[in-house]
Amino acid sequence: MTMNAMLNGKNAIVTGANRGIGLAVLRLFAASGCNVWACCRKPSEAFTQEVAQLQEKHSVWIEPVYFDLQNSEEMKSAVKLIREKKEKVDILVNNAGIEQKGSLFQMTSTEVFRQIFEVNVFAQIEFSRYITNLMMRNRSGSVVNLISVAGLDMTGGYMAYSASKAAMASVTKTMAAELCSYGIRVNGVAPGIAQTDMAMSLTEQARENTKAASLMQRIADPEEIATVIRFLASDDASYMTGQIVRADGGMA
Ligand SMILES: NC(=O)c1ccc[n+]([C@@H]2O[C@H](COP(=O)([O-])OP(=O)(O)OC[C@H]3O[C@@H](n4cnc5c(N)ncnc54)[C@H](OP(=O)(O)O)[C@@H]3O)[C@@H](O)[C@H]2O)c1
Repeated sequence: MTMNAMLNGKNAIVTGANRGIGLAVLRLFAASGCNVWACCRKPSEAFTQEVAQLQEKHSVWIEPVYFDLQNSEEMKSAVKLIREKKEKVDILVNNAGIEQKGSLFQMTSTEVFRQIFEVNVFAQIEFSRYITNLMMRNRSGSVVNLISVAGLDMTGGYMAYSASKAAMASVTKTMAAELCSYGIRVNGVAPGIAQTDMAMSLTEQARENTKAASLMQRIADPEEIATVIRFLASDDASYMTGQIVRADGGMA
């Protein structure tokens, strides 16, 4: 039994579990008694060790599942692997995503828009289709999508990324509406800025601007986003669906 059993006995799928917010979610979920299919693009020695340590420390199972979100065949094999475990899927955290290099929209090629939407939108929908199908059979489930304040507020310089996140906010609401009668809740978390590789890939100016726009005037630890994801994923949020919850340090 772990110290914090908020998700005790639940089984979750987390994408992008090898670093950043996804890794914080994996650690927090394991510490909360949750078993996890930890989805990543590629295996690594560091991740294998991390998984072994978390399993031992928290007495949960963690099954690494490797696939590239842009590869439909790999995704199908991953879903097959998940099904073959014959365990109920309670939670899906659609976390994996990519950032764009900042540029004015007039200077951004359609190819860049396509690339961002492939990963941040189309692959999320494709994966969600497979996984919510499993949840529908159980008539229960909770999906948490990673949005961003960039998809909700007025920000310049990152239109492809912002538009992809705005699309996911809409996807969240449609999924919530269509899946509610199957006992499936679908919510989103919109972080401001969290200390990950993605945040570090922004220009110094963009980071400072985002920080300055928040009351707290600081960048979040990934753990501070993971706790919000855990809440929405858990039964504590049983009366919430179709919501985008901001975790942004107080942005006006
Ligand atoms: N950090 C922030 O300030 C912030 C703010 C708002 C929203 N968000 C959102 O939060 C989520 C996590 O962000 P993060 O900051 O943790 O990002 P990150 O540190 O850049 O990590 C991104 C994760 O997504 C995975 N990924 C990317 N493309 C993939 C693909 N084609 N197939 C499979 N996995 C793929 C990466 O795998 P690899 O290691 O293999 O590349 C990695 O695990 C994203 O959806 C992001 O848009 C972040």
